Amino acid sequence: GTMKLSDYTPSAFSISDLYLEFDLQDKETRVTAVSQIRKLDNSCTDLDLDGKQLTLKAVWVNGIETTVTHTEQGIRLTDVPDQFELKIETLIDPVNNHALEGLYKSGGAFCTQCEAQGFRRITYFLDRPDVMAKYRVKLIADKQANPYLLANGNLIDKGEAEQGRHWALWEDPFPKPCYLFALVAGDFDKLDDTFTTCSGKQVKLQLFVDKGNVSRGRHALDSLKKAMAWDEQKYGLEYDLDIYMVVAVDFFNMGAMENKGLNIFNSKYVLADAASATDQDYFNIESVIAHEYFHNWTGNRITCRDWFQLSLKEGLTVFRDQQFSADMASAAIVRINQVKIMREHQFAEDSGPMAHPIRPSEVMEMNNFYSVTVYDKGAEVIRMLHTLLGESGFRRGMDCYIERHDGQAVTCDDFVQAMEDANQKDLSLFRRWYSQSGTPVISVNCQWHQSQQQLRLELTQNTAPTADQSIKQPLHIPVGIEIVTLSGGEPKISEVLSLTEQKQTYVFENIPSPSTVAVLTGFSAPAKLNYQPAEAELMAVILHASDAVTRWDASQQLISEAIFKFSQRDNEKELPESLKRLFQGLLGQAHTEPALIAEMLELPSFETLSQQQEKIDLDALLKARKQLKALLAVNFAEHWRALFEKLSNSAYSYEQTQVERRRLSGVCLSYLACLDSDESLELLQQAYEKSDNMTDTLAVLKACQAENLPLFDSLMQDFEQKWHDDSLVMDKWFALHAGRQHPQSLSNLQLLMAHSRYSINNPNRVRSVMGTFAFYNTEGFHRRDGSGYKFLTDYLLELDSVNPQVAARLITPMIQYAKLDEHRQHQIRLQLLRLFEHKTLSRDLYEKVQKAL
Ligand code: ARG
Ligand code: ZN
Repeated sequence: GTMKLSDYTPSAFSISDLYLEFDLQDKETRVTAVSQIRKLDNSCTDLDLDGKQLTLKAVWVNGIETTVTHTEQGIRLTDVPDQFELKIETLIDPVNNHALEGLYKSGGAFCTQCEAQGFRRITYFLDRPDVMAKYRVKLIADKQANPYLLANGNLIDKGEAEQGRHWALWEDPFPKPCYLFALVAGDFDKLDDTFTTCSGKQVKLQLFVDKGNVSRGRHALDSLKKAMAWDEQKYGLEYDLDIYMVVAVDFFNMGAMENKGLNIFNSKYVLADAASATDQDYFNIESVIAHEYFHNWTGNRITCRDWFQLSLKEGLTVFRDQQFSADMASAAIVRINQVKIMREHQFAEDSGPMAHPIRPSEVMEMNNFYSVTVYDKGAEVIRMLHTLLGESGFRRGMDCYIERHDGQAVTCDDFVQAMEDANQKDLSLFRRWYSQSGTPVISVNCQWHQSQQQLRLELTQNTAPTADQSIKQPLHIPVGIEIVTLSGGEPKISEVLSLTEQKQTYVFENIPSPSTVAVLTGFSAPAKLNYQPAEAELMAVILHASDAVTRWDASQQLISEAIFKFSQRDNEKELPESLKRLFQGLLGQAHTEPALIAEMLELPSFETLSQQQEKIDLDALLKARKQLKALLAVNFAEHWRALFEKLSNSAYSYEQTQVERRRLSGVCLSYLACLDSDESLELLQQAYEKSDNMTDTLAVLKACQAENLPLFDSLMQDFEQKWHDDSLVMDKWFALHAGRQHPQSLSNLQLLMAHSRYSINNPNRVRSVMGTFAFYNTEGFHRRDGSGYKFLTDYLLELDSVNPQVAARLITPMIQYAKLDEHRQHQIRLQLLRLFEHKTLSRDLYEKVQKAL
């Protein structure tokens, strides 16, 4: 069934303390759980505990063995006392746990993932975030295979045991919900460091990586120290335990997990060196390390009352990690990339069958709501609060929130209330962002009146019905604007308008010369624009707007319009004059802001283009985008070459100016690869051979892949030989192959999955191959005969019984089909029906398939 937000009731029982003992064995781990329980609701006689895939051995109430009844959710104890000690013994099987939820083995190590509802796979418990207890955890395991025994909090004792085993006892002084519980046992290499907090406390930092990977851990550890310092400086938030541990594992369903004092990470977001990781990897590591660290306050000290409130911690923590990244690197580039994620993925979610507000009100499988909406739109909602309240007002609100709710499990509304109270600002209309799904469209009408020297701006907001909600209301939307004269002289007026009604008109006086206005500057709200400024107006914004993100956005709009025009006519195509001028100008100033120019020179992605249209002609759009790219390549052939040659770097370091140059040089390569001349092939080959780092190497491979150059195959063979034994690099190799648009893409996929390094049990590998195919190999996946859809479906039927969480993520491109033509929609529905009729479909996939049909 479905769970509803409106059905929330507080727990009838509290658990103040929990002692857990793990006798770790591959196939039969014995878990003993001792809880101190108190009845809160006296009318309640029975205690229902959650449990899943557990073998129950015995239950004792106050030391007396008791019988229980098994329920759909777990077990029921009847007629329990008002206060008692509950002891439960269960057996679990970590080795055969391929869902990677609860306790499982990754490579040789035991590890856990409990968020959202994985703890019930460890023991019977009140598996809900508003039940917070103090934990003591004893781990017992074979010493040789598991020299390290880790759990949350502080190590308080350890010792030897019989038969080559040893044990460790950990205690976490902070009460926490069970989703933050973690343990790790295994053999690792360890990096040590310390951080001295603002109040002078020494914190031990420990990073655990696979044997032989010490040199790849440095960047993560440095990032952690930066994040710790930043949170003190920016929010006055200090770390609260004596030790902070991060463990990298190869088998992990998502990015990472903020378990108290013991983060567990997908190794992809920990390990980096110049030879094996790209600039993007370095960036992601810094950002995910920071994200999990920031959760210590926004998530752990203050947690969620129930899972509908997930965005309370995720939206806020994503916003905080974005602020951190903006401070560490280039603020404009960080913002541009965030805007792309919103437009490519979140807008698509809003217009598909899984549409939900950032605080969902109905959930079948919670894992399906770790979504771009909850995370990224959630962060945009926090950003809007920041915009409306200003930097210091937002900080006042944060201080109030933390002061008021430290140690509690609270709601999104509690957060907004704190922001409201600290600033005496009415946010009642703003709250609608939490309950209303969908992407508002802002229609713009702008006119400059010479006689009155006035600029009149009319804004209308409208949110179309979504799959989950038919009736929509106006939202409180902060609309950033910048007035720019067509000549570039004088008035540069930037402000944020508060659009609260369906339609509002704004008049700006004393605008003596012809002017235009950029709207939604800096992506001030997660909205779409319905606004077609004249070419000259867009050009003025591109040239003269003060904000870099605004200039980028206008250039992307100019390019998008050219692509749409191309896609509508079939005849001879010529590069539009406006684009000639745009690219001429951009290439001329490439050296000033290389990364920004790189972003502006790159064509909008197919996904971004799709989101701007009601219906898409997929084939025509893909073709038009290619044609435009080829024209730009040829027209500026000399420029690309010259610029590329000027951009070569010294020895690799992950440092801002170098990163920016490499970014621009990658864009040049992507155009040069379109030229298909001996000279450019030579240049690509040389660039590959000369490269001393993964960023440049991957740029060559991607350029060759996108243009389907024969060179691709020979370089890929070389690459494979070099990196055969490196899991993370092989993921890149797999993804490059899977993303190749090629008539034989399906047999390519089959070959990849038969490769000796492929495994359906490893989520990174599965995402590299099937994820890249379904999300980014547009031609292959959307083949007209439906064979791409069938291929994915066959695979999902297999994957679903192994790892339903990963399967449910992979189906996303196949349920977002509303913009496609009838023929393709029909092909997709045939496959969705196959899934629907499958007897043992997981709840994860079932929820999505059923909504999509
Ligand atoms: N809280 C983790 C993070 O944001 C993600 C956990 C995701 N869990 C899940 N079941 N999908 O870093
Ligand atoms: Zn998070």
